[in-house]
Amino acid sequence: MQEHLTVVKHPLVQHKLTLMREKGTPTAVFRQLLREISQLLAYEVTHNLPLTTREIETPMQEMEAPVLAGRKLALISILRAGNGLLDGMLELIPSARVGFVGLYRDEETLKPVQYYFKVPDQLGKRMVIVVDPMLATGNSSAAAVDLLKGAGATDIRFLCLLAAPEGVARMKEAHPDVPIVTASLDERLNDIGYILPGLGDAGDRMFGTK
Ligand code: URA
Repeated sequence: MQEHLTVVKHPLVQHKLTLMREKGTPTAVFRQLLREISQLLAYEVTHNLPLTTREIETPMQEMEAPVLAGRKLALISILRAGNGLLDGMLELIPSARVGFVGLYRDEETLKPVQYYFKVPDQLGKRMVIVVDPMLATGNSSAAAVDLLKGAGATDIRFLCLLAAPEGVARMKEAHPDVPIVTASLDERLNDIGYILPGLGDAGDRMFGTK
């Protein structure tokens, strides 16, 4: 059984994350770092993808060689910030199927409101990796996983850059079967639901909208 929360402590991940947290890091650099870090996190979140073997011929001899088993996995981006993690992951797993869940956070209630849902077919036969850089209150993450389970997904993982303890607790309560992989478990949320010390608004920082 996989741990509910895995914090990837690899030095490259930690170094890149520090650069991303710094407020003076320009948008283009932030985006590039996000692309790089997403691939390192993807490596961790897929570490137990099932394998089978296929007979191949090397220039030297025949062999039974390992290949990924089963259906192509599904990457589900929670819009809009999830897309920043998606690009790098697709470079590493180019045959993955991709879905999008559009949820925005009502700034007063902090509750998620759905505005878009489009996901690959046969979700129940795929490993599903939900990507969203910031696991803050956990309300939108839990709601996205609810929607995916409703669409048939059973093998779901959640990948984020930063997690707040409040978000991890919310996910554990709502979806104890969904392992979380992150680069950092931060201290707490502030009173408007932002992660401290955090990195600010992930969407604004990657898209340069502020
Ligand atoms: N979303 C963000 O972009 N940043 C936070 O700190 C919390 C939620």
